Amino acid sequence: MAAVKAPGTLRRLREAGLETLVIATTSALHFVTPLSLSAAADSALHTDQSWFAPQPGAQHLRLARADLVVCVGASADLIARAALGLAGDLASATLLSVRGPVLWVPAMNEAMWLHPAVQLNVALLKSRGHHVLGPVSGSFGSSGEGAGLGRMAEPEEIAAAAMRLLSPPAQDFRGLRVLVSAGPTREYLDPVRFISNPSSGKMGFAVAEAARDRGAEVTLVTGPVSLPDPDGMTVRHIESALELREAVLHAAHDADLIVMTAAVADYRAAETKTEKEAKTAGEVSIHLVPNPDILAELGASKGRRVLVGFAMETHAGVERAAGKARRKNADFMLLNYPTREGTAFGGDDNQVTLVRPDASHDAWPRLSKREVAERLLSEARSLIGAGD
Ligand code: C5P
Repeated sequence: MAAVKAPGTLRRLREAGLETLVIATTSALHFVTPLSLSAAADSALHTDQSWFAPQPGAQHLRLARADLVVCVGASADLIARAALGLAGDLASATLLSVRGPVLWVPAMNEAMWLHPAVQLNVALLKSRGHHVLGPVSGSFGSSGEGAGLGRMAEPEEIAAAAMRLLSPPAQDFRGLRVLVSAGPTREYLDPVRFISNPSSGKMGFAVAEAARDRGAEVTLVTGPVSLPDPDGMTVRHIESALELREAVLHAAHDADLIVMTAAVADYRAAETKTEKEAKTAGEVSIHLVPNPDILAELGASKGRRVLVGFAMETHAGVERAAGKARRKNADFMLLNYPTREGTAFGGDDNQVTLVRPDASHDAWPRLSKREVAERLLSEARSLIGAGD
């Protein structure tokens, strides 16, 4: 149970100007003291005991009038009770009466989270319009027993997600066109073999979705990934770097912002065999030729477009990323480290440093990819039209 993150979350919500009310489930009180919760919320604590204390009006009905309910460190048990519509405790009864949005922030170990019973309950809640944040990969629990998927989102992200639900996203990209590339490329050697990389596409999809939600007209050009096409945007599927180049250049001419998150293979086979190569006992060598650098090509005829790239480095990150920004004529690069646990390739989180061509930079904390996307867009928005 990650109820220990509840006080931090409450503090962030209050800092954001919200009035908070807290319900502690009986099991949460094994992990966090009533005093730390009521102090963080600056209000009385509601518990299963207080529910039955004689007082006018039904407590769960009053609590359910909240504009938003956030279930921090939600257990499989509370999720199941809400999915089933049980009402034998204060938290469940409140959830059964609520009319506003509900944000679930689950915390449990990977085996429990992935169990079909939990997944079914979560799907049921989502089908009723509930929102779910995480869990994300990383270790949790004092003894690290929960390594893998299951770590709860951090208070900062929970507060950001709560604020998004309470206030519709700013429409600061209305009337603007955003082009995003995502995922890996595949460079075929023959019809069944290719050179590629483990890019999941999650970062690019998060940028595309965030831009859409902020009012942009979005084109997403993606390599092969296992994510469903997002709604409300034009999605183009490509495989090779050459196909990516064609699709990106085609959509680039009227774009206001281009974000290149795609992990483009640097090389392709000089020649792709049309038939599958038979296995031989001896060594083989493949002749590779460099792929065109699409971002650099966009930078060479940049015009008024804002260009953002990603740079994955293992060392000397800031200088190398700044050098790339200058060479490719990008407005800024987001530098990330493939070697950091739980970030970059495949993960739900990312820890990036924004690097400008003059090497000035801002290191962001570890955030969900959606939150990285929101910050990227805010930075890019401040540059769109800046030279007008
Ligand atoms: O030089 P490097 O590959 O590290 O640069 C990464 C950035 O450049 C990413 O934004 C990537 O999408 C873009 N890129 C590109 N075309 C390439 C290689 C990288 O647009 N051939």
